[in-house]
Amino acid sequence: MQTGVTTGTAQRIGVPREIFPGEKRVATVPEVVEKLIKLGFSVAVESGAGDAANCSDEAYQAAGATVVASASELWASSDIVFKVGVPTSEEVGLMREGGTLIGFIWPAQNPELMQQLTARKVTVLAIDALPRMLSRAQKMDALTSQAGVAGYRAVIEAANAFGRFFNGQITAAGKVPPAKVFIAGAGVAGLAAIGTAAGLGAIVRANDTRAEVADQVVSLGGEFVKVDYEEEGGGGGGYAKVMSEGFQQAQREMYAKQAREVDIIITTALIPGKPAPKLITAEMVRSMKPGSVIVDMAAERGGNCELTEPGQSVVKHGVTIVGYTDLASRLAKQSSTLYATNLFRLTEELCKTKDGVINVNMEDDAIRGLTVVKDGSITWPAPAPKLPVAATAPAKPAAAPAAKKGGHGHGGGDTEPMAGSKLAIFFGVAAALFWLIGASAPPAFLGHFTVFVLACFVGYMVVWNVKPALHTPLMSVTNAISSIIAIGALVQISPLGGLMDRPDNPITWVAAAAIVLTAINMFGGFAVTQRMLAMFRK
Ligand code: NAI
Repeated sequence: MQTGVTTGTAQRIGVPREIFPGEKRVATVPEVVEKLIKLGFSVAVESGAGDAANCSDEAYQAAGATVVASASELWASSDIVFKVGVPTSEEVGLMREGGTLIGFIWPAQNPELMQQLTARKVTVLAIDALPRMLSRAQKMDALTSQAGVAGYRAVIEAANAFGRFFNGQITAAGKVPPAKVFIAGAGVAGLAAIGTAAGLGAIVRANDTRAEVADQVVSLGGEFVKVDYEEEGGGGGGYAKVMSEGFQQAQREMYAKQAREVDIIITTALIPGKPAPKLITAEMVRSMKPGSVIVDMAAERGGNCELTEPGQSVVKHGVTIVGYTDLASRLAKQSSTLYATNLFRLTEELCKTKDGVINVNMEDDAIRGLTVVKDGSITWPAPAPKLPVAATAPAKPAAAPAAKKGGHGHGGGDTEPMAGSKLAIFFGVAAALFWLIGASAPPAFLGHFTVFVLACFVGYMVVWNVKPALHTPLMSVTNAISSIIAIGALVQISPLGGLMDRPDNPITWVAAAAIVLTAINMFGGFAVTQRMLAMFRK
């Protein structure tokens, strides 16, 4: 076992063993250690930290980390500590003064912990405080990565407790009907559960108070079941609000009907800052078929089902009710890898200079949002981040002066449109350059160059006028269109190209391979685009 020390000015990132009972995750994995070292940091891991997530001490060492024997040594020698679970007061006591802690903190729920952290004069980045509405923050969004894993695992737990297949089958021994699964709440966890259950072949239905998720439910293979009552369920920022009594009554009736019909219910409904809404009553549980299963993902926040026992799997009225609160941890390798990647992306943002030293830049919206304690002072809650114009619904009056300057609006960038005089100079210089090139270059070059300039212009205009949210589908359709090179291959292989008569010519085979590959790219690209666009269609 080595006990190396920090060399030079590079900071050391320390990863302790998680001590919360049953927590199997670890804050970094060997694959990510290598990337952190490339950023200039040294990495230390407490011996046994990754055991429960299938990451051995040897694997960490092979990736370049130093393995240290004890928690006290780890905390004392680390400039930055990566953690998963909320730190205990003992762990805070081990922290080096002036150090940085990155992990789940939940400052609103843990005021005492916040006081302990300030007393240690440390800086704390709470991954749960990330401003999720910033598209730049998605790669660091550990709440999303962990909820996705938990949603998947909820279906696996349901399948484990359920005595039948998920998919329908016709076998020599008889016909098996597909299982019916109802998902309450289609947030991150709910959508992951819908996709997983549909993938296993079940009939999936889902409900959410936010009507905008209906398309996402359908695109993942589910059916959106509406509550027969008109009320908007969005409470701002993509989260839900507490619904009116009238809505709740109508929702209870619909849920009671679903409970009688389905085999499995997975509940994920949550309203930030409130106890989980009680959606499944004891009466509904009684009405379910014997052998049915409920997985209550909101168990930790009081549960969506009246009969849930947090942390337990119990059988009541013949129905198995799973109330595990550690679903992501039950898939420790997967959740740890995703979490480690989230923290790596955050470290990249903190260390743009790639010299192994972080800079907690409070001018950066994402970093500001995450930082709940800075050098011993509480900096939580952060002011709301400034969003690009397109992300904040209708045009604001503040946009008017920019329009007056002569520019045209675009899909949400925050760059000022070019002023009229600058535009004239730009075109003047471009025309002069064009004339110079035209005077000296061969005529064929000029033709190609004109097409190139026009293509750049059209491409620029297309991308600039598309909302940032639609950039991913745009990229996939562009990718599909780029497969037009298949035409070149077809010409090579066709009788016109004369190559069909000569199958021994290697170009014929290269062209044939090009056609197969570009066909996959083309049809795959269009299919992916369709699927992504379906998520945006109302
Ligand atoms: P989220 O906030 O993204 O999603 C919650 C969804 O429930 C939202 O779409 C919301 O509109 C919907 N909802 C709220 N009230 C509703 C109602 N009355 N009826 C129908 N839908 C309603 O949260 P996320 O990230 O998807 O997590 C879902 C739940 O899973 C949370 O309770 C979270 O604490 C829990 N969770 C549990 C884990 C475990 O190990 N048990 C692990 C990860 C998440």
